[in-house]
Amino acid sequence: MAVTVDVFGTLEDGRKIEKYTIENSCGMKVSVITYGATLTNIFVPDKNNNFADVLVGFDDIDGFVNRSDYQGVTVGPYANRIGGARFDIDGTEYKLTANENGVTCLHSNGEFNTAVWDAEITDDNSVAFLYASPDGLNGFPGNTDVRVEFILTDKNELKLEYYAVSDKKTVINLTNHAYFNLGGYDSGTILEHEISINASHFTPVDKFSIPTGEIKSVEGTVFDLRKPVKIGENIDDSCEQMSFTGGYDHNFCIDGYDMTLKKAADVKDPATGRRLKVYTTLPGIQFYAGNFLKGAKGKSSKPINKRSGFCLETQFYPDTPNKPDFPQCTFEAGEVFTCETVYKFLCD
Ligand code: GLA
Repeated sequence: MAVTVDVFGTLEDGRKIEKYTIENSCGMKVSVITYGATLTNIFVPDKNNNFADVLVGFDDIDGFVNRSDYQGVTVGPYANRIGGARFDIDGTEYKLTANENGVTCLHSNGEFNTAVWDAEITDDNSVAFLYASPDGLNGFPGNTDVRVEFILTDKNELKLEYYAVSDKKTVINLTNHAYFNLGGYDSGTILEHEISINASHFTPVDKFSIPTGEIKSVEGTVFDLRKPVKIGENIDDSCEQMSFTGGYDHNFCIDGYDMTLKKAADVKDPATGRRLKVYTTLPGIQFYAGNFLKGAKGKSSKPINKRSGFCLETQFYPDTPNKPDFPQCTFEAGEVFTCETVYKFLCD
């Protein structure tokens, strides 16, 4: 176990960006940079013990600064969408930056993922990233201190432990937006990967990808992923939900949510045998199949094409601040928010 630090690059304004790499005793390696507390590389073995980087992204800081698809980033203070870019707390309306279609607030207008975070090595297998979100930025109330710790175990588990506390009553929803391709970042689409999601329900959306408020059974729909299904099997189905989003881009309601770690998803690449299991203490997981990726120049100058990576964004459901029937994510001033997500890599 060891953590090493390198300079990753320099921003236009001269700020240096560092890269922290954690290596475990099995040779698995995970790198995170201080720009956006962004995961940049995850090297894991396949069934023949060949290592590949399974994270879709960029080799240099310019790629991350110019990206439009949130590759690998930490998202907050509110990950995913808030409808109408507004919400109320105790009768006070908060108006947010409407950065999507002029109507929706998506990923808090990129606040966390474009910030330069402080970092500290917390052990020989862990690094913590720290950021102070100022009151009122993009309309969110409260000065909010945030900490995300990345921990790599000898069982090839990457644990993300999130912590936040604000000085005002506010909404908090933190996630990571990694795109995975278990064949390796340059191995083509993820349509042959098999996915299962531990969810009997999902949250259907409107044409702006805002949940309608319904918590709908997956039974008899293309969102029934309780048993493994090839991602490509139904992704171009003509149903209204798929046509709104151009493929899977939906929040699933994890069965048995009780704020303890629950199995959320399991993805396998039959070609390499690599497998990813996701566990979380959060109630939801956004499965996004990279439908809007458009060929940006990624690692080794290879294009990041449509559906060349999938995201499993553990989270509170989208638009929770406007949906009183969803599990709530409003926290009192001084109340500590914590959650944990585990990405466990295996080989079959
Ligand atoms: C964000 C969301 C994804 C998806 C894309 C669409 O990245 O997290 O779920 O909706 O936008 O571009």
